[in-house]
Amino acid sequence: MSVQIDSAFDPVPSLSHATRVSLTTEPATGPGAQAVFVPAEGDLPAAVGTLDRDALAAAGFKAGSKQTLVLPGSPLTVLVGTGKNGIETDAELRDAVAAFTRAAREIGHLSVDLSELIAEGDWDAGVAVQAAIEGAALARYRYDALKSEPITAPLEELSLQVPTEFIEEAEQGVARGLVLARTASIARDVANTPPRHLNADKFAEVVEQVAPEFGLDVEVFDLAQIEEMGLGGLLGVNAGSIEEPRMIKISYRPADPEGHLALIGKGIMYDSGGISLKPSNAMHAAMKFDMMGAGAVFAAMTSFAELGVQSAVTGWLMCTDNMPSGSAMKLGDVLTMRGGKTVEVKNTDAEGRLVMADGLVLATEDTSVSGQRPDAIVDIATLTGAVMGALGTRTAGMLANNDQIAAQLEAAAEASDENIWRLPLDHRYREQLKSNVADMSNIGGSYGGVILAALFLNEFVDGTPWGHLDIAGTMQSESDDLWRSVGSTGFGARLLAEFAAAFEAPEAAEGTDTDASAE
Ligand code: BES
Ligand code: MN
Ligand code: ZN
Repeated sequence: MSVQIDSAFDPVPSLSHATRVSLTTEPATGPGAQAVFVPAEGDLPAAVGTLDRDALAAAGFKAGSKQTLVLPGSPLTVLVGTGKNGIETDAELRDAVAAFTRAAREIGHLSVDLSELIAEGDWDAGVAVQAAIEGAALARYRYDALKSEPITAPLEELSLQVPTEFIEEAEQGVARGLVLARTASIARDVANTPPRHLNADKFAEVVEQVAPEFGLDVEVFDLAQIEEMGLGGLLGVNAGSIEEPRMIKISYRPADPEGHLALIGKGIMYDSGGISLKPSNAMHAAMKFDMMGAGAVFAAMTSFAELGVQSAVTGWLMCTDNMPSGSAMKLGDVLTMRGGKTVEVKNTDAEGRLVMADGLVLATEDTSVSGQRPDAIVDIATLTGAVMGALGTRTAGMLANNDQIAAQLEAAAEASDENIWRLPLDHRYREQLKSNVADMSNIGGSYGGVILAALFLNEFVDGTPWGHLDIAGTMQSESDDLWRSVGSTGFGARLLAEFAAAFEAPEAAEGTDTDASAE
């Protein structure tokens, strides 16, 4: 609009930097920094040199999990504590490499010796390499697109030492690790971008520019088209804004797809609450992140071709900001959603479910793949403050009408260490969504907000196998914390990428909860 934005501004800076990853069978030499994993008990690794446990303890290093100590030299040696049990899972390895990367924050060339870990443990070398790359790249991530000077030394090279006999297996993990780190970084970039720099229109331009590079088709729907399509939820939320909404449809179509998956992302570019205005506090100030669901879907889809995803996938990004103004929707207004259901708006701050409802209906109507509706729908949204109350900032809420989808989401959460916890889709609360004037209200009572929001969405999936991720609590990190850098976490991008890569259409009927509207 009238405020000038630097035309050279790059909304996806992560795409212009690539880390080189090399696999070696020899220890690191020369400049840079090397990680040495140190267990809290037993013999010290040879790379620690002449220092004994007493000397390390005197320097404050007891090899507790993720504790670090930098020893001068070339290469710089960073001791990384692995606690009493050592590194047992890929999540612990990702964390340990992230701790190393943060301790060596100025260094452009990092080396990690994974040979003992891989030779002695029960590891798939590819999984270990992937986790190490993600840990390093994501810990080094910092959003500095709007800083006059860069604030991070780029990670130029990551050398990973693996046993000779595992080189081939390890190579599988290099490409995956780089693709998934890039994927999460893309999601972070777009979410970290201020709302003035990335409104719905600009986001659509970015997707149109970036997605084709990754083998994706993009269609952007503007205000007139959204009106024609009857996306009443998206239009209602957009009504208070001077900026147009966008619905962005992204299609991934491999040859001979094995199934069809729909992904819906909440793209509230900025959530002021609307007429139900949010108080001006830190939470409100974080509402540029309210498009993280859409950011995660977009970012995840950029990985599909390189990950060899076998299913057709259609992404639906529902984008607008939510503003108060003379033209904003009012409390008591009734919206007619795509598909004809009517919704009484009793709180304009419960806007996410309104835009998501239209996206869900669009997905259920889509028979572009094999003439059938999608095999499954997964939606992702920064939907409720209540999920933060229930699960905190490290675990997202998951609700599903289908046990197979829930299990596949749990597996993807495990692989990505983007943790989720399933909450019940308890239909006894459905009656709280009743309205005197419309088919339903957009809010229920004071308790169980995560479930109420999911029950609202459930009204629009028409019994299609469906999973819902509420990422309001996990969308941002208030400080640098291992591989989560301050700002947007990119939560959901890697999870959805892993989910799509392993996706199998659920078997008919089994586990599907068709009790859509228990009135
Ligand atoms: N975008 C917010 C949810 C949110 C809250 C995300 C905190 C991240 C951090 C959402 O649109 C919202 O305002 N939800 C309301 C729903 C309520 C009015 C039923 C909420 O959680 O207060
Ligand atoms: Mn809101
Ligand atoms: Zn919102």
